[in-house]
Amino acid sequence: MVGLDPTIHVFFAHTGVGAWRKPTHDASKLQEGTMLEINNLHVKIADEDKVILNGLTLKVHKGEVAAIMGPNGSGKSTLSYVIAGKPDYEVMDGEVLLDGVNLLEMDPDARAAAGLFLAFQYPMEIPGVATMTFLKAAMNAQRKQRGEAELTTPDFIKRVNGAADRLGIPKDMLRRPLNVGFSGGEKKRMEILQMTLLEPKMSIMDETDSGLDIDALKIVAEGVNARRDPEHAFLVITHYQRLLDYIKPDTVHVMSRGQIVKTGGPELALELEANGYRDYQSAA
Ligand SMILES: Nc1ncnc2c1ncn2[C@@H]1O[C@H](COP(=O)(O)OP(=O)(O)OP(=O)(O)O)[C@@H](O)[C@H]1O
Ligand SMILES: [Mg+2]
Repeated sequence: MVGLDPTIHVFFAHTGVGAWRKPTHDASKLQEGTMLEINNLHVKIADEDKVILNGLTLKVHKGEVAAIMGPNGSGKSTLSYVIAGKPDYEVMDGEVLLDGVNLLEMDPDARAAAGLFLAFQYPMEIPGVATMTFLKAAMNAQRKQRGEAELTTPDFIKRVNGAADRLGIPKDMLRRPLNVGFSGGEKKRMEILQMTLLEPKMSIMDETDSGLDIDALKIVAEGVNARRDPEHAFLVITHYQRLLDYIKPDTVHVMSRGQIVKTGGPELALELEANGYRDYQSAA
């Protein structure tokens, strides 16, 4: 992307800003109805021996909203980074398939083009890049990948303004450098604005609820619920039942020490709220 600081590439490649490489299709791996499939994933920190994910296996079906809960440090954000292709981690074993496409062989921006989006737990501040400029670059990069024409400026402005209005994001924020000086909740709203505009088929939301006020939480939940259909799936990482009151998950997974140690329905989140993780801490 011309004109963007190269450092953006690393952290924002999930939105599709950057160079493209064609996705690797592996039709034999396609399982009908499965959006995201993670098999026996082992991951360590690239420069250290520290293993974070220990044979993690997880499946999210098309149309499904799956929640992941788990103690601090259990590897939830690491999992989301590895799916999105952030460097710094080394995959030692396992596979990650998005709609049958092997993500681990793809650049982060190609993963975004294949329909993956990660809303970060800690969105990065990017001085010098106006939010509008970033959003337009991200949207057009994806359109290019899909063989579609670039958005005209009026069309882009109309889409951004419409989505920003719905999320309660004031216009002047869009002229400011991306996330710089934004409050915690404003940064989270900005992640959701990106998600809304990019229309991913698989959205991973890493603690998007923390920092959001109650009105924003409801708006985000409405946005997710409105897109619950066979073309979309969501992986919602959260510590709080509160979010799950608004986005009722189909499945709840408990993560501990780099593995999924329990899978259940929405009632599992209520059980965790009542009992904490004591039953699961030693399970992995
Ligand atoms: N680059 C790194 N270098 C060293 N340790 C790391 C690095 N990245 C992650 N870790 C460690 O990996 C573990 C998992 O971290 P991660 O951020 O994935 O946890 P989490 O489940 O998202 O926690 P939280 O609920 O607090 O967000 C932690 O112990 C963390 O300190
Ligand atoms: Mg985390």
